[in-house]
Amino acid sequence: MTKKFNRHLVTSALPYANGPVHIGHLAGVYIPSDIYTRYLRLRGEDVIHICGSDEHGVPITIKAKQEGVTPQDVVDKYHTIIKDSFEKLGISFDIFSRTTSQTHKETASDFFKKLYEKGEFIEQSSEQYYDELADQFLADRYITGTCPHCNNEKAYGDQCEACGTSLNATDLINPKSAITGNVPTLKETKHWFLPLDKHEPFLRKWILEDHKEWKSNVYGQCKSWLDLGLQPRAVSRDLNWGVPVPVEGAEGKVLYVWFDAPIGYISATKDLTPDWEKYWKQEDTKMVHFIGKDNIVFHCIVFPAMLKADGSYILPENVPANEFLNLEGDKISTSKNWAVWLHEYVEDFKGQEDVLRYALCANAPETKDNDFTWKDFQARNNNELVAILGNFVNRALVLTQKYFDGIVPERGELTDFDKETLAEIPVIRQNIEKSIESYRFREAIKEMMNMARLGNKYLADTEPWKLIKTDENRVKTILNIALQITASLTTVMEPFIPFSADKLREFLNINSINWDNIGDADVVAVGHQINKPSLLFEKIEDETIELQLKKLADTKKANQLANREVAPQKENISFDDFCNMDIRVGTIIEAEKVAKTKKLLKITVDTGVDKRTVVSGIAESFSPEEIIGQQVSILLNLEPRKIKGIESQGMILMTEDSEGKLVFITPKEKVLSGTEIR
Ligand code: 2FM
Ligand code: ZN
Repeated sequence: MTKKFNRHLVTSALPYANGPVHIGHLAGVYIPSDIYTRYLRLRGEDVIHICGSDEHGVPITIKAKQEGVTPQDVVDKYHTIIKDSFEKLGISFDIFSRTTSQTHKETASDFFKKLYEKGEFIEQSSEQYYDELADQFLADRYITGTCPHCNNEKAYGDQCEACGTSLNATDLINPKSAITGNVPTLKETKHWFLPLDKHEPFLRKWILEDHKEWKSNVYGQCKSWLDLGLQPRAVSRDLNWGVPVPVEGAEGKVLYVWFDAPIGYISATKDLTPDWEKYWKQEDTKMVHFIGKDNIVFHCIVFPAMLKADGSYILPENVPANEFLNLEGDKISTSKNWAVWLHEYVEDFKGQEDVLRYALCANAPETKDNDFTWKDFQARNNNELVAILGNFVNRALVLTQKYFDGIVPERGELTDFDKETLAEIPVIRQNIEKSIESYRFREAIKEMMNMARLGNKYLADTEPWKLIKTDENRVKTILNIALQITASLTTVMEPFIPFSADKLREFLNINSINWDNIGDADVVAVGHQINKPSLLFEKIEDETIELQLKKLADTKKANQLANREVAPQKENISFDDFCNMDIRVGTIIEAEKVAKTKKLLKITVDTGVDKRTVVSGIAESFSPEEIIGQQVSILLNLEPRKIKGIESQGMILMTEDSEGKLVFITPKEKVLSGTEIR
C-alpha cells in the first residue's frame, strides 16, 4: 500500500560557503529540487524547501588562510554570493539559512548532547596525523596523499576527488600536510564515534528492502557500502572552526562538519517556522533530500543513523541524487576555475535565467555524468525555446491581436482534430506528474515542450492565417483552442522556467492557473482581453557563445601555464663542454615525410656551412610544406646517426608552448644561415 503523506519537507544540499556556486551545483541539486517544490506548490500541497550554506569544515579554514582573512569573513562573503545567485535564478527556497547561525549552533550542540547522554557514541583515543611545524592535528582536507584505490596523488584525508572514494586520513599513501607540506607524525587524540555498525541491520532493511524504488545509482552506492560492512565513524575533529563538542574534556574539539551540516536542515526549518517539529517528527511528512552523488553516503547512511539514534525524527522517503555535470569535456573544478559560475552567468545573460534552467534540466546528469557545452546551450535556446515554445505562443497571441483585437474569440463546433488536440493536454499533464513524482526531470521537461509542440502542430495543420479570408468563425475556434493551450502552458512551464511562465501570464493577462485545472475547457474565458505580446525568448547569437568559449580557453591556458612542471636542472658541464657545442641558425629548404613512420620528417637545412639532412620527430606537429623557409636553431656537431636508414646530421632544437605544442627556436628577426648561437 502506498503511504499517504500530508506534507512535504524538501531539502537541498547545503553548499559549502568556500566559493561561489556553478552550473554543476545547479544541474545536480537545485534545479531538480526547485522543479519538484514548485510543482508541489502548484498542486496545493503543504511543502517547505530548505537550504542554507554549509559554513564549517576544513575547506573554509583553508580558503581563509589562502585569502589572509578569517573563516567568518569567508563564509560571510560566499553566503551572500551564493544566496544572491540562487535568488536570481529563481530557486525558490522557503529559507536559505546558514550553519553559523545561533539556532544552528544550539540545535547541533543539543543533538550531540542527546546522543551522548543516550550512550549512542563510542569514545575512543586513536593516533591521528599531526603537523609538528603548524602545531595542529591534520583533519580531513588538511592532509593530502596518494589514493590507495586509484593512485591519484592529490587525494584528501577525507575523500579522493578523482575516484570519489571516501577515505580516512590514515588510508593515504605518502601523506603530507596541506599546511606546511611536512610529513606528519602520529599523535594520540580522543574522539567520539557514531557506531554505524550497530545501525547496520536497520539500515540494510530500511534501504535494501523497503526502498528498492530509489534511483539505481543511489541504491547501488548504499548497497556497496553496506556490503563492505559499516565501521564506527568519528563525529568530532581537532579544529578550532566549528560547533564546539558540548561535553567536558573536549576543549579544542568541534563537531565533524558532516555531523553538523545535515542538522542544518533541522535548524533552518526551526528558523522558518515554529511548527518545525510537524515537518521533522510526524510520520505523514514526506522528506526528500536532493543531493549530488558525492553526498549519498552521508544522506542515506550517516544522517539516517543519527536521526534513528535520536529516535524522535522521521527518515527520508527518497534521496534522488544526481551524477556529475562536466563542462566542455572536463570535470568541473573550483580550484582550476573550470566552471560556469552562476554569479557570472546572471550578469552575462540578464533576463535569460530560464535558458540556463532549461538547458541544465534537459541535459541533467540523472543517470550518468553528462557534459555541458555552450553549443548545446545555444541549440537548446534557439531550436527549442525560441523555435518551438516561443514560436507557438507568439503565433497564438499575435494572431489573436491581429484578427480579434486581442479579445479571446468564442469556440464554434469542434472538429475531431480539435477534440483530439484538446484531449492531449491532460495526457501531457499526467505524463509530467508521473515524471516529476518519480524524479525524472529530463523526461518531465520534454513533456512540457511537447505541449508547445502540440500547439505548433495544431496551428500548422489548421492554418488560420489562410482561413481568415474565407471562414472567420473557424479561425475563432482555432485561436480559442490555441489560447487554451497557451494558458495551460503557463502552468506546466512554471516549475521549469518560472520567469517565462510569469511573462506569458502577463501577455495573456491572467493569474496563475492551478495544476489541476490544466486542460479544463475554458482556462481563458471568451471575451477576455489579452495584452500586446513581445518575444518570450531571444535568439542567442554565435558571438555570445564564442565569448564564453574564449573565457574557458583563457582559463585552460592559465591552468596549463600554472601547472607546467619545470624539469630539474641537469648536472653542471664545463665551459669547454659548452664551447664544444656548435649551435647555429639554419634555414629549412626541403622537407618530406619519412615513409612508414608517423612522427619523422626528413629535413634539408641550409646551415650556412653546408646543406645537410636532419631527421626530426616533428611530423605530428608540422606538415612538410609549412616549414619550408623556417629558420631554426640546429646543433651541428652532434655525431651523425642512422634513423630509418637515413643519416641524420645534427639536431634541430625545439621547445613547447603553453599547450604542449612543439615550437621552433627561431631568432626574432631573420638572420644569416650559419650565424652562431652562443
Ligand atoms: O558537498 C557539499 O557541498 C556539502 N556542503 C553538502 C552538505 S549537505 C548537508 F548535509 F548539509
Ligand atoms: Zn582515488
